[in-house]
Formats: sequence, C-alpha cells, structure tokens
Amino acid sequence: MRVLVIGSGGREHAIVWALKKSPHVTKIFCATGNPGIAQLADCVAIKAEDIYGLAQFAQTNKIDLTIVGSESPLVKGIVDLFEERGLKIFGPSKAAAQLEGSKMFLKHFLKRHNIPTAIYQTFNQSEFQQAKDYVVANPSPVVIKTDGLAAGKGVAICQSKEEAVKTLKEYFEAKVFGDAGSNIVIEEFMTGEEASVFAMCDGEDYVVLPSAQDHKQILDGDKGKNTGGMGAYAPAPIVTQEILSRVEKEIIQPTLLGMKAEGYPYKGCLYVGLMITSNGPKVVEYNVRLGDPEAQVVLPLIESDVYELFSLCASGDVKNYLLKLKNASAVVVVMASKGYPDEYETGKEITGLDSTEENSVVFHAGTKREGNKILTSGGRVLGITAIGEGLSATIEKAYRAVKKISFENAYYRTDIGYKGLQRLH
Ligand code: AMP
Ligand code: GLY
Repeated sequence: MRVLVIGSGGREHAIVWALKKSPHVTKIFCATGNPGIAQLADCVAIKAEDIYGLAQFAQTNKIDLTIVGSESPLVKGIVDLFEERGLKIFGPSKAAAQLEGSKMFLKHFLKRHNIPTAIYQTFNQSEFQQAKDYVVANPSPVVIKTDGLAAGKGVAICQSKEEAVKTLKEYFEAKVFGDAGSNIVIEEFMTGEEASVFAMCDGEDYVVLPSAQDHKQILDGDKGKNTGGMGAYAPAPIVTQEILSRVEKEIIQPTLLGMKAEGYPYKGCLYVGLMITSNGPKVVEYNVRLGDPEAQVVLPLIESDVYELFSLCASGDVKNYLLKLKNASAVVVVMASKGYPDEYETGKEITGLDSTEENSVVFHAGTKREGNKILTSGGRVLGITAIGEGLSATIEKAYRAVKKISFENAYYRTDIGYKGLQRLH
C-alpha cells in the first residue's frame, strides 16, 4: 500500500515511523516532511494548505491512503475533496472539523447533546456591551476564547473582571485577532487537572488509544507562556479505568451519535481535551487530529498494525480492529530553540542525533538539512521519546537520551511526567 502523510512536524514523523512497521505499507510519501521523516519516506514539496495540489499528487501517484496530521487542511475541506475524487483519506469532513475550527459550534454542539463542559455564553461582533455585562455579572476567573483557529493563541484566562474587560477591548476594539476575534465564547474557569484521550473514529464506531498528558507551558512547574506542547507522557494515571469509562459514555459516544444524527458523521482522530474536575471529566476542547507532541508517545505504545487502524477508520470498519497495546510507558521531551514560544533562534547545528538510547526515538519537528548537517529551523526542534517499563524509569531514560543531543542554547523542561509520578505515589 502507498500512503501519503500530510504535515511536517514531530506528530507526522511519529505517524510515518509507526506506519513503517506495517507489512502492508510498501511506500510512504510525506508532504512536506522534514529531515527526520526523509529517512523513512519520500518528502514532497506540497504545502498542507494546498489541498488541490495534494489531491492531484494522490491521484497521479496512486496513493491508497492519505493521513492528515494537522487541522488546517481538514478545516479547509481536504477530506471532502479527496472523497469526491474517490481517494481514501483519514480525517473528518469540513463540516465535522468545525469541532476544532469553531469554538461556538463546539460549545453549542456539546450543549445540545448534554455533554459535560464549562458553562458558557457566545457573543458576536455587535455584542461588546453584552459581553462586558456578562463578565461583570459572573464570577472570575473567566476564559475568553475566539471562535476561529488563532494558532493556539485565542484563549485568555482572565483572573479578574478588570482583566476580562481589558481582554474584550483587545478583541473587539483593537482586533488583535482580526476576524477570528470578532466572535467569542466566554466560559466558566474549570479547576482540575488536564488530560487527553484520543478516539480513532470511523463515523460510528471508535477505538480508544492510551490517554496522555501534555505540558503546555514553557517553564517547569507549568509556569510561563503557553506553547504547542513541551512534552508528554502516556498512559496518564489520572485517567483511571473509571474516568475512561465515563469519558466514553458521557463524552465520546454521545459525540459520535450526535455528529451522525446531525448529518456529519465523525471520521478521524477525535482528540478529547479534558479537565478532570471534582465532578468528573469535562470537555475543554476537541481537536480533530492527533495531538503534537502526544502522538509521539501514544503511537509508540501501539503493538498492533497502525496502518490497519488508520485505514479501517477511513473505510468505516474500525469495529474490526483489534487494538493491542504495549504494557509500557512512553515519555517525550521536546527540545526547543531559545526564545520559543516568542521569537526564537534558528540555524544552529544539531549534534548527537545518531547516539540515542536503547528504546528511544528522535522525532524531528523544526529541523532542516544543509549539506550533511542538520540545523534547527523551528521553535520546537526535536521530540525525544523513550519507551520503557514504569513511568519513573522511562522519564530517566528520556532525559538520558536528551543529554546526548545538543545544539546551541537548546531549551527543554526538566519535569516532564512528574505530575504522573505524583499520582502513582
Ligand atoms: P483550548 O484552546 O480551548 O484548549 O484552551 C487552551 C488551554 O486553556 C487549555 O488547555 C486549558 O489549559 C485552558 N483552558 C481553556 N478553557 C478552560 C476552562 N474553561 N477552564 C480552565 N482552563 C481552560
Ligand atoms: N499538544 C496539543 C495539541 O496538539 O493541540
């Protein structure tokens, strides 16, 4: 089988790496890929947003299955386009991708189907005054979110009413998010610990992958600015069997039923971002694709054939898939460029890439090749994943692997996985 993977980050490297183990897969292409992916697949210079170019490529190159890594081509309708042309693709349709593409759509959908989430109210561009009245009348903190995708930056947690009003002014008057900021959701701040669960769906049935916990903030102890994710581990002990069965019954199943009933069956990976509150699990957000860096720990824990999993989801037959997991933990530590998540340095030579630990993998994210050197080219540069027995030993192994790799001013968090360890003790 010939597979096309769309994307160029650590998540896509992990997808390609997992597909490579399948005896069904004879050839992998990746658009656009990166130097790490290039060791396993043919990289093609077609951008993820160029959905017509990608469809043309899939037709010309007789691709049997396309797997979409990131949300933007999904929100643009790549799945609808491929399916119109009879091409098999893993991911949700444009309408179903609104679960991530529009916070308003998501919140109204959750409410219609009684799925637990933060209490909220939506406001449009002409309702600045109503939005101000709402934050003044409701207890702080509140969370203000732009409706559309805003490169992960459209969420403000406002500790006081003053801060909330100031944020509203930025959205409505200064228009810091342009059009994406003119429609907003204001919601209750939920307390608890976050975790994610990934359901691989075929429109009706689903398979749940190991739970994971991301580390979104830049500094140890979950301090500082939000990033795309500085590290993750799986499985996450906070998602006990009991929590997981509640997530399935109260969240995943009604979501799949609701999406189907409303005419847009959900196919692809449903990333359930959860807050585990004292009243049980609640939805913080949905993403319509695998998480990054979470994919770098979740996929390595799958023992069964990952190609079959993606393929059966795409063809509506996932109930025939027998998921077999490794009885192990996985930890990924992200090595980032100095300055990330703000302006960061690039062009630093990376050394030590070949000298990794046993049972560890280096996933490339922001790297580029220049001659025979690999240089940094992005904020998140590498994801170093270790797989092992027990979370504690696996964390140590991941950091041993990290220490063998270097580039000038490399930055990483030193506490990935520690929240999980606290739960185990
Ligand atoms: P989102 O893009 O909706 O996932 O929000 C980004 C991050 O903001 C989440 O991962 C949470 O850490 C935080 N967050 C979003 N909504 C809430 C909420 N209602 N209560 C508490 N934290 C939230
Ligand atoms: N790690 C968070 C995300 O993929 O959105």
